[in-house]
Amino acid sequence: MAKIKPSKGAPYARILGVGGYRPTRVVPNEVILETIDSSDEWIRSRSGIETRHWANDEETVAAMSVEASGKAIADAGITAEQIGAVVVSTVSHFKQTPAVATEIADKLGTNKAAAFDISAGCAGFGYGLTLAKGMVVEGSAEYVLVIGVERLSDLTDLEDRATAFLFGDGAGAVVVGPSKEPAIGPTVWGSEGDKSETIKQTVPWTDYRDGEVARFPAITQEGQAVFRWAVFEMAKVAKEALDAAGITADELDVFIPHQANERIIDSMVKTLKLPESVMVARDVRTTGNTSAASIPLAMERLLATGEAKSGDTALVIGFGAGLVYAATVVTLP
Ligand SMILES: CC(C)(COP(=O)(O)OP(=O)(O)OC[C@H]1O[C@@H](n2cnc3c(N)ncnc32)[C@H](O)[C@@H]1OP(=O)(O)O)[C@@H](O)C(=O)NCCC(=O)NCCS
Repeated sequence: MAKIKPSKGAPYARILGVGGYRPTRVVPNEVILETIDSSDEWIRSRSGIETRHWANDEETVAAMSVEASGKAIADAGITAEQIGAVVVSTVSHFKQTPAVATEIADKLGTNKAAAFDISAGCAGFGYGLTLAKGMVVEGSAEYVLVIGVERLSDLTDLEDRATAFLFGDGAGAVVVGPSKEPAIGPTVWGSEGDKSETIKQTVPWTDYRDGEVARFPAITQEGQAVFRWAVFEMAKVAKEALDAAGITADELDVFIPHQANERIIDSMVKTLKLPESVMVARDVRTTGNTSAASIPLAMERLLATGEAKSGDTALVIGFGAGLVYAATVVTLP
């Protein structure tokens, strides 16, 4: 048997830079009330959401990603040519093929970086981060760009009371690269396909194409079932990620849960018994639920406002359609 040379990676990986892009149009709850019977007070008290951003025609999945990535690359202090792989997590890119990642890799000016899309709903950022860490440590890429990007306004039924107020658009990106110290903990992740009906696209594209339904497909959910699952099961997963990283709640500086709903966030904070000193991301208030983009967008904002700082220890957890989830402890860039 011929001897194959092993690949040579870095001892550890870390997030080196983060960037975000929020569409220019800010949409207050009043706009949502034009199409559903609700109230600003109900939306705020049930979800925490006050405003969200909706993309215009120019703010495509690729365009928003390029903006967020440019900032992340600059923040990491590297150049686009140094990026060895581009991983894009999205459920709202409307071309089955090719992957939007290749267009983004080209527009950024990478040197033919490997590029692919993944579909892991609101856990997509954690899934991408886990892949990136693996690539850096294994040696197939020195620097990996992980992007979470959504145009959920394209997939929102504005007449659906259960979802019309929830979703927003945007892109968040991080650069993952080599580190001498561990800075991305073990990932606790998984899927529960037996609950796949609780958050889903209403009908397959082909039903719409074939005229079987008149309405363009949208994301729908069983609000209460999702809420219960998130509150009870995801707090356990978050705790497992802390344990796997060997970190106690007292040692944590920042908590960045998926920005689904502020009541879910509050409940997790309580169950995890996070001390008051832990800075909790509440970007959902002004960004809504941007699925795969929500964690990097929230991370970017906490660092930009000074509410969190470089070197802080943060617990991140994403969860959503699949159902899927991913949690890990990271050192902030
Ligand atoms: C969507 C969500 C806010 C709805 O809240 P809820 O309390 O479960 O709402 P329900 O559907 O049980 O309805 C409760 C009441 O509110 C009313 N209601 C439902 N939607 C409403 C709306 N948009 N505006 C005003 N009232 C509404 C219902 O008619 C019902 O009224 P009733 O008690 O008089 O019958 C909540 O289920 C939730 O946050 N789920 C998780 C969503 C999420 O984060 N998803 C993404 C995960 S990745």
